[in-house]
Amino acid sequence: MLSHDEVTTDHTPTAPQPDAAGRVLHLHRGGTSVVVDLDAAPHPAIVHWGEELTGSSEQTLRGLAVAARPQRVSGGLDEPARATLVATPGGGWLGTPGLEGHRDGASFSVRLELVDVQADDHRAQLSLVDREARLSVQLELSVGTAGLFHQRITLRNDGDSRYTVQHLHLAFPVPWDATEILDTTGRHLRERSPQRHPFGYGTYLRESRRGRPGADATLVLAAGRPGFGFERGRVHAVHVAWSGNHRLVAERSVSGEAFLAGGELFAPGEVVLAPGGSITSPEAIGSWGDGLSELAHRFHDEWRSRPAHPRRPRPITLNTWEAVYFDHSLERLTALADAAASVGVERFVLDDGWFVGRRDDTAGLGDWYVDPTVWPDGLHPLVDHVHDRGMEFGLWVEPEMVNPDSDLAREHPDWILRARMALPQSARQQQVLDLAHEDAYAYIAARLHALLDEYPIAYLKWDHNRDLLDAGSGPEGVARVREHTLALYRLLDELKAAHPGLEIESCASGGARVDLGILARTDRIWTSDTLDPLERLTNQRYTALLVPPELMGMHLTSPVVHSTGRTVDLDFSAAVALLGHVGIEWDLTATDDETRSRIAAWVELAKHVRPLVAAGRTVDVDGTEPGIDVRGIVARDRSSAVFTLTQTDTTVAYPPGRVRIPGLDPGRQYRIRVVGGSTTAAAQSGLEWQDHGIALTGRELDAVGLRPPVQYPQRSTVIELTAEDGAPHQAQGGAR
Ligand code: DGJ
Repeated sequence: MLSHDEVTTDHTPTAPQPDAAGRVLHLHRGGTSVVVDLDAAPHPAIVHWGEELTGSSEQTLRGLAVAARPQRVSGGLDEPARATLVATPGGGWLGTPGLEGHRDGASFSVRLELVDVQADDHRAQLSLVDREARLSVQLELSVGTAGLFHQRITLRNDGDSRYTVQHLHLAFPVPWDATEILDTTGRHLRERSPQRHPFGYGTYLRESRRGRPGADATLVLAAGRPGFGFERGRVHAVHVAWSGNHRLVAERSVSGEAFLAGGELFAPGEVVLAPGGSITSPEAIGSWGDGLSELAHRFHDEWRSRPAHPRRPRPITLNTWEAVYFDHSLERLTALADAAASVGVERFVLDDGWFVGRRDDTAGLGDWYVDPTVWPDGLHPLVDHVHDRGMEFGLWVEPEMVNPDSDLAREHPDWILRARMALPQSARQQQVLDLAHEDAYAYIAARLHALLDEYPIAYLKWDHNRDLLDAGSGPEGVARVREHTLALYRLLDELKAAHPGLEIESCASGGARVDLGILARTDRIWTSDTLDPLERLTNQRYTALLVPPELMGMHLTSPVVHSTGRTVDLDFSAAVALLGHVGIEWDLTATDDETRSRIAAWVELAKHVRPLVAAGRTVDVDGTEPGIDVRGIVARDRSSAVFTLTQTDTTVAYPPGRVRIPGLDPGRQYRIRVVGGSTTAAAQSGLEWQDHGIALTGRELDAVGLRPPVQYPQRSTVIELTAEDGAPHQAQGGAR
């Protein structure tokens, strides 16, 4: 521990220090080091974030800090600027500041100095003050068990006037040779489309102003060596664990520093600190790796190590939405439940349409009472039926939303978020409830508790189907996204505490609210409203940069995909859904016996592989052939793995060239078996490695590989690899 007294605070920049090397902080764990130069001017700067510097001595780390210090240059400041922990113009920084604010238009300058450090080998709390601006800051830095770098900042107003916070972010320096940026964009039905750009001088900014991360949000902003892929290439990335507005920045400065930064985004006047008041930011979390897979594994591993992480096998789910939409009746839904049970489903989720006035999407949101015209005996007959067939019951809700055509909106128009006299533009015919309004909160909480008390509901699918616009607490009120988000977190926490075992899915028109703030309180995300396996391939790959696969809802679609009109093969759809939290969204009552037995075989395979999915490591292969997608999950002890070999398009090579299967133990030998997928004659015949039941070493599979089967486009083959020395695997049958 460094004590208060050991930290140099009296820093005179122009005079040489008695010990020019000063003090350094070295936090390290899980393969990651963070080195902070505590004596950088005007306050500490991160010298290194990335590879764990095992073997470094205190002395060499001090040298490292000195080696990072900039020289004075012509045309520059006499005290060269640094991208310090909370860089501000008052401290000489001319790039995007880490903190901006003012006191009614005055006192905008901030220059923080270090006054205290408390630290152990993986955690530190730094206290900084600006006595003139009357502000103090607590910075929490920590390196998690899997090597994630967490930062959080608390800003306190020590003055006797109000302080408006305009901007607050946390910066993560990246290596100077990280010259390529990767982020994602998207829209409803196509979240997480990757885009790459050169990381040149200037600022690259991604903002979310939708009151939720949004379908276009990037889960991480990454910067790496040019051409980095999933398997190789040094890359760093930052995520903001927050479900409201936020901002991610990548900045390269002509002063020779490059960084990623993230923080909450405030609307004008949204955060005004009263004298003595403070604000604590959401965590900004950095990960890095040699390749995106390693970067993703840090997120997965650390997330899985939480005590609250769902540990029981992820129940195979049937969601009623695309099967029946709003056409609810006991008869129809019990028939669907029967069909679901017959293929091995374990959780039956009743989606939108069960509550008062909700016969379509124009009315009813807010009136969270079971509709007696559709359900004269409440949901009991359906819930009992579902339970009798051995399944859990789940229920859809959208508690933050309200239709103007609802009793709630008619009785409490003041509970709706608005910044003007008129309501904001509607979206899906709905408005947003001001959850930070005490009475609105109390009503929603009471309705949810009542439903959870009355029915044995194991699972809530918590939807959020519109972006927020002009979200204020009534005309002329203050902006409310931050308060709304905090109220949402409080509500989720309270529901979980009051109903032990309750699981919650975060859905927002598909995957428009995916972040570690919401995932700290929920058990799965709805990855996208598109069930088209072709679209899902990209979506799932890039969602898994952050989210462990067992928390990603992946559903088997009906043959004609509702969102794209594409007709897809059952085996293709099932294979693409296999390596996640598996479900079905299809009117199974309309399927014949043969189809149902094929679905049942897939469900059986999903149950077989789910322990591997829940604990293993994702592998995404940087292929040479764009028409073939190879991905899989390898057990932590590398005793087994499951891969999908997907033919997305035709390839020029016919038959296609070999694909590599990396991630296995180079020295062990693996038996390879096709366990599901493509049923085309071509794929079935003449695939010699299948006929001969070969075994290959992990090294051979990575360095040389094997021929994928000849498949039609939009087909997938699932292979299981089992180490010959491993435990005999339990799979029976499979889905062929
Ligand atoms: C959007 C969701 O993403 C869908 O799965 C479904 O729940 C609908 N909302 C219901 O309104």
